[in-house]
Amino acid sequence: MKATSSKAVSLNAAFLDEIKQVHEELNELLSSLRVIAHCDISDATSRRLFVDSLGAMRDQLALRFSLEDAYGYIENPVDAAPWLTEVAAELRDEHSLLYRQASRLSELAESMWRSEQLAQRWQMLLAKFMSFDDQLTRHETRENELVIAVCNEDVGVGD
Ligand SMILES: [Fe+2]
Repeated sequence: MKATSSKAVSLNAAFLDEIKQVHEELNELLSSLRVIAHCDISDATSRRLFVDSLGAMRDQLALRFSLEDAYGYIENPVDAAPWLTEVAAELRDEHSLLYRQASRLSELAESMWRSEQLAQRWQMLLAKFMSFDDQLTRHETRENELVIAVCNEDVGVGD
């Protein structure tokens, strides 16, 4: 799904880079979820940990995205290059989509925990998380590449 904002957007590259670097809690949560997702979660302890970690990831993503939206992007830039405006708007708009997906994952995990689902259903949940993780990683990679491009070309950088 692609929903690009109609508003012109550029990057505040220095702030966006700083937000990512100081936000270690989200990175640690994602690392932990990846380890669990690649292991067997047949026991209740690891399942509960996975469910709790998904909820914490959703909350940390909400914080990360709100910081990025508030300080990492600039609406109505005066002199941003057209290519930058287009890519920046696309990436910023992905935040709401990724957050909704993270929320659905967390809600599904909680409901599975309450209803004591079979192992097969837990494997399906792990696959859903890995698919989401791929999307989030692509988003982060593209955002980092854009920060580098903006710094290199010195266009659209806010102070
Ligand atoms: Fe982002």
